[in-house]
Amino acid sequence: RILAETRAFGKLILFGEHFVVYKVPALVGAVAAYTDCECERLCEPGLVVVDNRPAVPDYKVTKAAEADAALRLVFDHFGLDLSKEGFKLTFGGDLCCASGIGASAAQVVSLARALSQALKRPMSENEINAAGYEGEKGYHGTPSGIDNTAATFGGILKFQRTDGEPIFERKAIVTRMLIVYASTGITSSTTAVVGDIQAKKESDPLWFEALLQKYIALVQKAELALNAGVIAEIGQLMNENHELCQQLTVSCPELDRLVEAARLAGAAGAKMSGTGRGGLMLALTPTPEIQDAVADALKAAGAPQVWKTSFA
Ligand code: MEV
Repeated sequence: RILAETRAFGKLILFGEHFVVYKVPALVGAVAAYTDCECERLCEPGLVVVDNRPAVPDYKVTKAAEADAALRLVFDHFGLDLSKEGFKLTFGGDLCCASGIGASAAQVVSLARALSQALKRPMSENEINAAGYEGEKGYHGTPSGIDNTAATFGGILKFQRTDGEPIFERKAIVTRMLIVYASTGITSSTTAVVGDIQAKKESDPLWFEALLQKYIALVQKAELALNAGVIAEIGQLMNENHELCQQLTVSCPELDRLVEAARLAGAAGAKMSGTGRGGLMLALTPTPEIQDAVADALKAAGAPQVWKTSFA
């Protein structure tokens, strides 16, 4: 008997991947795409997982241990002992695992929602988000928390990590933002790339500080542009954020090529989004016609997968 059926959003970082780790604000948008979780109780103890989500080719081999750890951390957070109780989880939805769209965060948040319902333990959205964050640690070590917050709350959020609880607020969506996002087909490890940037920061603090200051000035402008809903300006600032990502060494030739193709096809702006060195890029497109043209250009430029959507 299915006790709960829940879902959580995917995310695309509009401004501030990597910088957000260092406690400066970032802007993130949830996409109108989801991971679903169905939860059943079993008579025997243990965890049975049926994973029907789309995934990058070697996902089951490379990420199986992390995924298992992540789910178990959520059960631990709920005080559930899988050596005494049994659950079957079925995951579905359209978010592609290990692509960079935040499928891992959506999975652990959808699980937290499902356990809250199945156990009849009402929880606030903040509590669901906190439970999801525990699961994210299984995937990504000590992530900033931006992915699970977007997965929980949806919409466009301004997010900032602090020494304590993160602070975030929902931004009003004043203009419909049509987007195209595309995969490089390269899976990168968030833990590894974040760790590498940390090492680079330690070996050259002045280099890092100069980039961080440029980013802080940029995200202030980006928030104003978003508040005003000026697509051309948001796009221009996305282009500038991509340059900062290049200087931070988190872009790569495959991302740069797709970003360039999107701009040439008429995007208001384009940038990598998320971990980088693979993963996804994002283009902001002013009209449905330009959205189609950008999607076609990205396919022609060799992107293995291209999605057209809007922020949710
Ligand atoms: C990954 O979606 C975003 C990063 O900034 C890592 C994090 O925030 O934990 C690269």
